[in-house]
Amino acid sequence: MDKSFSSRSVPIWFMRQAGRYLPEYHILRNKERSFLKTCFNPEVAAEISLQPITRFDFDFIILFADILVIPHALGQNVDFVNGIGPVLDKFELNRNNCNSDKKALKILSPIFETIKIIKNKSLPKKIIGFCGGPFTVLTYMVERGSSRDHKKILNFIKNKPNLTRDWIKKITEISIKYLLEQIKAGADLIKVFDSWAGLLKEKEYEEYIIKPNKEIFEGIKKERKKTKTIFFPRRSKKFIDIFLREINCDVISIDQHLSKKNMDYCRKKEITIQGNLSPELLFAGGKKMDEEVKKIMEKYKNNKHIFNLSHGVLPNTPLENVKQVVKQVKNYEFTD
Ligand code: CP3
Repeated sequence: MDKSFSSRSVPIWFMRQAGRYLPEYHILRNKERSFLKTCFNPEVAAEISLQPITRFDFDFIILFADILVIPHALGQNVDFVNGIGPVLDKFELNRNNCNSDKKALKILSPIFETIKIIKNKSLPKKIIGFCGGPFTVLTYMVERGSSRDHKKILNFIKNKPNLTRDWIKKITEISIKYLLEQIKAGADLIKVFDSWAGLLKEKEYEEYIIKPNKEIFEGIKKERKKTKTIFFPRRSKKFIDIFLREINCDVISIDQHLSKKNMDYCRKKEITIQGNLSPELLFAGGKKMDEEVKKIMEKYKNNKHIFNLSHGVLPNTPLENVKQVVKQVKNYEFTD
C-alpha cells in the first residue's frame, strides 16, 4: 500500500489549527454566535477550515467541525458555553431514546456540504475529515461536558457494562457511516480522535478503545481502501503497542514520547508517525521551541513523519510562533 510521506520532506499541520488563536476566526464565530451553528453553516465552516491554510500554508486542511456533533445528531443537545466548554443536555441513555442513523446523517449533512465546498476549490492540499473515538464521545455524553476526574464515565462503565457496550456499538456504527459520507464528499484522509483513551486499564482499553477503533478502521477500509487513516489514542502509554499491532493504520498521531521499539515497528510497517510538539512550547515560543522542533525532526528522520502537536493549539498562542515552526519545518536541513 502506498503510504507516501517521504521521510525527507516533512509535511506539517496542527490539531486545532482553525480556531480561537486566529483573529479572523473570532470575526466569523461572533457573527454566527453559536459554535454548533458555525459547524453546521457550510460556507462559514469552509472559510474557517481554510483560514489557517491562507495564513500559514499548512499542508493539510482539517475540516472545521467538532467530535460532539455525533451526540447532537443522536438527539442529545449540545451547547458550547463561553468560558466553560461543551454542555450536553440530560439524556436518557437507552437505544429507544436516540435518533435513527438516517435521521442523524440528515442532521450531519451540512458538514458534508462544507467538505464539498473545500474540495471544489481544488487546492493542492489533502482534506482531513474526522470523528471522535466512540469511548471519548461517550465520555462527553455521560459527563455531560468536560470533566477533571471523569468519575461519572468510570462509574458508568463499571456499573453498566451492557449499556456501555450498547452505546459504544451505536456510536461506532454511526461514526463509520459519518466518515464514509465525509469521504464521499471529498475527504482524503480521516482521523479518529480518542482523546480520553488514556483513562482506561488494559481490559477496558481492549474493549472500548481497540475494538471500536478497529471496527472503524475496517469499516472504512472495506469501502474505501485508498483513504488514509489517522488514529489518535491519546495518552495510551504502554498500550500503544497493542494499538499498533491490532490496528494497521496509515498514520499514528502521538501525544508524547514514542519508544524506539515502536518507532522501529512503524518503520517496518510503513506507519507514518504524526507529532508531537507540545502546545505549551508552541505557546511559549523562543529558543526552547526552536530546539524542540529540531529534536523532533531529528528523532523521526528515519520514519515517515508528519509534523504536528501533541494536542490542540492553545487559545492566545502567538501567531508568530506558529509561523516560525512552519518555516522551520519547511526549510529544515537534516544533520546528515
Ligand atoms: O482545527 C481543527 O482541529 C478542526 C476542528 C476541531 C475542533 N474540535 C474545533 C473546536 C476538531 C478536530 C475538534 C476535535 C475535538 N473536539 C476533540 C478531540 C481533540 C482534543 O482536543 O482532544 C474534543 C475532545 C472536542 C470537544 C470539544 N470541543 C471541547 C472539549 C471544546 C471546548 C474546549 C476547547 O478545547 O476549546 C470544544 C470546542 C471547540 N472545538 C472549539 C473549536 C475551534 C472552540 C470553540 C469556540 O469557543 O469558538
